[in-house]
Amino acid sequence: MNKNADSIDIRHNGISRTDREALLQQKGAVLWLTGLSASGKTTLAHAVERALHERGHLSVVLDGDVIRQGLNSDLGFSPKDRTENIRRVGEVAGLFCDTGIIALTAFISPYRSDRHQARSRVEADRFVEIFVDVPLQVAEERDPKGLYAKARRGEIPEFTGITAPYETPLSPELHLPTAEWSVPRCLNAILTYLEKAEIIPTHGADRHGRPLL
Ligand code: ADX
Repeated sequence: MNKNADSIDIRHNGISRTDREALLQQKGAVLWLTGLSASGKTTLAHAVERALHERGHLSVVLDGDVIRQGLNSDLGFSPKDRTENIRRVGEVAGLFCDTGIIALTAFISPYRSDRHQARSRVEADRFVEIFVDVPLQVAEERDPKGLYAKARRGEIPEFTGITAPYETPLSPELHLPTAEWSVPRCLNAILTYLEKAEIIPTHGADRHGRPLL
């Protein structure tokens, strides 16, 4: 039977999020990592992704350096471009969340208002703001890409922490001091939070806390 496209109600055509979440045994969520360059966001995001995969969960990492080579290759580092960067990432992460997937975002996301906008894209219990907190001095010592040194020499304008602001989160769901805590300790804190928030089942249990056979 031919259907006129106008008559199709797309709201009732798709698989629902509830159906997808039952399949995946998890809740769709956005884990929003924020912090200075070289704070450990990407490392942690991939550690969580790996741990979730090993537990049979589906997640995806959206990383600043990667997204800026593709989807956001038209954007620079002015306040306006950073806001647009985060707006798009918030939308994409929200779409994954709507699909029952756990999206991990690893962006400096220096502005509170931008992070707030990303938060408001999904339901309150599905947004986990994770402050990857490192002193600027430690980030500069790490300097894996040599960018802080360049910024200090004046070769990169508007560099976060040096010549551009970073607005620390006021009430993040998780605060990880990565200069003091090891990656496994940070990972453990995130997984424990996800279990408590019932985004994933308790290890060795299904979503209702029943032990796995
Ligand atoms: S954000 O501020 O818009 O959230 P994003 O996380 O996408 O930034 O990108 C940050 C990465 O871009 C840094 O880790 C670094 O590798 C690179 N970068 C290049 N120029 C800058 C700059 N001016 N400020 C911060 N990071 C920069």
